[in-house]
Amino acid sequence: MNIDEGTIEAIASVLAGAERITVLTGAGLSAESGVPTFRDAQTGLWAKYDPAELATPEALARNPETVTRWYDWRRQLIARCEPNPAHAALAALQRWAEGNRVRVDLVTQNVDGLLQRAGATGVVELHGNIHRWRCAATGRDVPDPPLPFAEYPPRTPEGTLLRPGVVWFGEALPAEALAAASEAASSCDVFLSIGTSAMVYPAAGLLHVAADNGARTVEINAERTPATPLVDIAVTSRAGEVLPRIVDRLSRAV
Ligand code: OAD
Repeated sequence: MNIDEGTIEAIASVLAGAERITVLTGAGLSAESGVPTFRDAQTGLWAKYDPAELATPEALARNPETVTRWYDWRRQLIARCEPNPAHAALAALQRWAEGNRVRVDLVTQNVDGLLQRAGATGVVELHGNIHRWRCAATGRDVPDPPLPFAEYPPRTPEGTLLRPGVVWFGEALPAEALAAASEAASSCDVFLSIGTSAMVYPAAGLLHVAADNGARTVEINAERTPATPLVDIAVTSRAGEVLPRIVDRLSRAV
């Protein structure tokens, strides 16, 4: 959808008036890089694959080869993708903020590391990172896992199973990341929700925490979500089209 300049300016002006901005991103942020989302009809991963068979500790125990092959396939796909203009705009927002005594916390549900590759710093990864793998028994990280693995399921030199360093259904989020995200949501004066279906908790609850603490809220998403009626400004559009315009407008305004 073509978003008018007035909406871009309204969001830029909300950001310009903030001292602390918290951004929550989801799979939609990386969609324009070619990374599949989860819940989009037809193209979303969960439209083709059953998460119960791939994204739970029980699935790994039942079928380690299938699970690790699938995650290695995604890891290889992501390694071939490049950050897109939406990632670059968020990194640029951070740089703008540094020069203007504004704090920007980037919180992501994405496991692809593309925000960091675009130059963003201090990214809080709520759902882990697909490039990190760890021993399924001890939780110990394996440094630099080969890409791809030579065999499936991959194992440590001691022979124990490896698993991807992502959060699965039924697992707790990393405590430090969740604490940082909760603090950032409760202490910001502007909260942006970008490219997320706003359906998976606790991440989806961060917007509510921010709003309850008085933050202005903005959503940028390709389609309406359960968060759309709750936010102050909702933009139904692709992040890669809208975010660069907002950050550009902001940089010119100050
Ligand atoms: P979803 O796939 O649930 O939602 C992605 C949202 O992005 C959808 O609402 C799309 O309409 C929107 N979208 C698609 N392309 C876009 C674009 N170019 N610009 C803006 N929006 C776009 O992904 P998440 O909300 O991230 O969990 O899903 C949350 C969690 O569910 C994921 O982290 C994953 C999944 O199960 C784990 O892996 C633990």
